[in-house]
Order: sequence, then C-alpha cells, then structure tokens
Amino acid sequence: PSFRATVLTLFPEMFPGPLGLSLAGRALEQGIWSLEARDIRASATDRHRTVDDHPAGGGAGMVLKPDVLAAAIDAAPSEGPRLLMSPRGEPLTQGLVRELAAGPGCLIVCGRFEGVDERVIEKRGLREVSIGDYVLSGGEPAALVLLDAIVRLLPGVMGKQASGEEESFEGGLLEHPHYTKPNSWEGVEIPGILLSGDHKAIARWKQERREALTRERRPDLWQRHKTGKI
Ligand code: ADE
Repeated sequence: PSFRATVLTLFPEMFPGPLGLSLAGRALEQGIWSLEARDIRASATDRHRTVDDHPAGGGAGMVLKPDVLAAAIDAAPSEGPRLLMSPRGEPLTQGLVRELAAGPGCLIVCGRFEGVDERVIEKRGLREVSIGDYVLSGGEPAALVLLDAIVRLLPGVMGKQASGEEESFEGGLLEHPHYTKPNSWEGVEIPGILLSGDHKAIARWKQERREALTRERRPDLWQRHKTGKI
C-alpha cells in the first residue's frame, strides 16, 4: 500500500468502521492504503490485563499506564510519525493532512480516560493532534476523521481535480454554493448566471460567492486570505 496506518486503541472493533465504506473503503479494498487496529490491552502483562491506573496527585478519571502503552508502540510497525489524538494537541489542518498523506504512513494512538502518562508522550515522541475545541470520550473518532482526510488525498483515490481543489481551502476560501437540476425547485431558481454558458462570468460569480461566504462565516480565514499566505 502507498500508505500504512496503524491505530493503537482499547476498542479495535471501532475500525475500520466508516472507513470500510465509500471512498476510503474502496481504496482499502484496492490496497491503496492499509489499516491495522491493534488492541493496547494485548500489551498488558498482569493477570487482569490492566491498562490504566489512578492519576498521581489525585483527581478524576484514570490514566493509561506508560509501560503498557510503550510496549504497544514498540511492537507496532514504524512507518511515519507517531501521533496521539488529544484535545490539547496542535489543531488538525489541511496542511498537516497533506504532510501526512505524502509520507509512508503513521501510527495513531487513541487516548481514553483522562489521558495518557506524560512520560510516554515524551519518550516515544508522540505528536499530539486535536480535531477541534471540544472533548470526545476517546481518540477513536478523531483518528477516523484524520484518516478519512488523509486517504482521500492518496494517489488514485479521487480524481486529482477534487483533491486539487482542496489546495485552496487552507488559508483560502470556503466553497461557493452548488446547484443541480431541476432549475426551479420549491420556487427557488438556480442563479441564472450558472445557466448562461458564459464560463468567464461563471468563474467570476463563483469567486465572488466564495469571498463573500468566507468574509461572513470565517473572518479568520478571510483575514489570512487577504494578508496572503499559509
Ligand atoms: N480526544 C478527545 N477529544 C479529542 C479532540 N478534540 N481531538 C482529538 N482527540 C481527542
């Protein structure tokens, strides 16, 4: 495969999940990418297969044990960077997605409980990645999100057109509105310009809609777009 993903999780049954369907699922069947979900619990060594313990210094929840997680990491394939899905990580961007998709693969650790022992993050060089400013009950849905974004960029998964269009998102503009037949639906017409056949005018309309939408909805992106770069 051109991209090899390994996921370390306490719930391997969550994979491939939605990634076994549609675009990603087809690419998986075609061998364009591979996905191996490994059970962290398989690396526990005691009679009860303990993976977590109480936080030092007290507090709520449980913490993934460093020895167990490190053993799982050390036993995993070593293609590409090691990531930890975490709400305190660097924000996931299309830029990071593109960077990862250009590499040989990645190892994704899914946290549960209150978190993982800080020493594993440090000693195994885990790069913490967040998919947004909200808290999930575990890193698994975040890993699915990250992998979906990566897989659609792999060669042969999508027409280069659609993935190339994504080039414009990061630091760029939101998409313009889309329409398809019927021309009139529930009393609302497709904007006449789109039916005019005037390709230059259509391109101008699309660009204008993208700019207006970005200005209204995402002043942060609009600012970056105007001042150029990223
Ligand atoms: N795990 C829990 N919440 C998360 C988030 N927002 N992003 C990534 N991993 C998470």
